[in-house]
Amino acid sequence: MVRTELVGRQRELDVLGECLAAALTGDPRLVVCRGEPGIGKTRLAEEMAARATGEGVPVVWGRGVESDGAPPYWPWRQLLRATAEVVDVAGLAHEHRLTADVSRLAPDVFPPNRQTADQGSSEDRFRQFDAILANLLREPVTREMHLTGLPAPAVGQHLSLVVGHDVSDEEAEEIHALTRGNPFFIGEIGRVLDFRRAGARSSLVTASVREAIGARLQRLSPECGRLLQAASIVGRDLPVALVSAVVGLPVGGCLGPLDEAVAAGLVEAGTTPSEHYFVHALIRDAIEAGLPTSERVRPPPSRGGHRGDLRRPPRTASVRYRPPLGRSRRGG
Ligand SMILES: Nc1ncnc2c1ncn2[C@@H]1O[C@H](COP(=O)(O)OP(=O)(O)OP(=O)(O)O)[C@@H](O)[C@H]1O
Ligand SMILES: [Mg+2]
Repeated sequence: MVRTELVGRQRELDVLGECLAAALTGDPRLVVCRGEPGIGKTRLAEEMAARATGEGVPVVWGRGVESDGAPPYWPWRQLLRATAEVVDVAGLAHEHRLTADVSRLAPDVFPPNRQTADQGSSEDRFRQFDAILANLLREPVTREMHLTGLPAPAVGQHLSLVVGHDVSDEEAEEIHALTRGNPFFIGEIGRVLDFRRAGARSSLVTASVREAIGARLQRLSPECGRLLQAASIVGRDLPVALVSAVVGLPVGGCLGPLDEAVAAGLVEAGTTPSEHYFVHALIRDAIEAGLPTSERVRPPPSRGGHRGDLRRPPRTASVRYRPPLGRSRRGG
């Protein structure tokens, strides 16, 4: 994807700038940045890192990997290894009586001695990691930052940088509504916007959009994935009663999978328990685009029709969403 100027994150950069300034006076800060895939967490961190580097502050990175088989604490190991090149980590750990913890996190960098040799099972280590993270979140030095989508004017700005010319307010509004300001999706749509302007019948749901959303679907339980595929023909709004009719399940059987989709950030719960909707229309469009035409036009089964559980998918949900082969080209 073409990398364009950062837009619409001034408030976040201000907060991060204040945190850096505090840290440089010896008052440490930890910022935990959350947000849906593609919302711009890595980009914001890169921007901040570039600014810090510009001020002569050493910057180190640890990147998580999604594939199985990464060593335990992999991002932290990378951080410790890189930090050890600029700071006496072993000396500091000794001073703060953290030698055992540091060698447990990164035994390859800080080999355990006789006293610290007990590494525990990898499950123990994951449990310990979760406990450390929970403690860190409660620390007064910690700030949480939840990144949401770019506002409509920033969407227009980002879009025009991606396409290389001005875009109309209507187009910006349309793309804002479709993506809820997710910069990754805006960038993808930008690549096909000109084709559509030129009158081509080009879908805004590009292969990369489908691939990115397909990867998120694959992390769901089969029940939840099937429910979303079936429900995508309903529309962006997902009233539970209608979803239940479409998937042919009692309302109670839909709530668990819907909760899972909410937890995965694909669906949002409305103000009443019966209201749900896809987080943005593009997610619905991409899921629906993964269904063959026959599945898209098939009417919902009658109320007295299929009854069962999601392990035996009803006809409308019988087609698995197939993301295109190959991994996403996007980094973490
Ligand atoms: N504020 C922004 N202005 C311009 N481009 C942006 C902005 N935020 C993100 N982008 C671009 O959008 C794409 C997705 O951003 P990024 O990779 O940072 O998302 P992420 O939240 O880290 O996603 P993931 O959870 O998948 O790691 C990148 O190409 C990035 O350069
Ligand atoms: Mg990222």
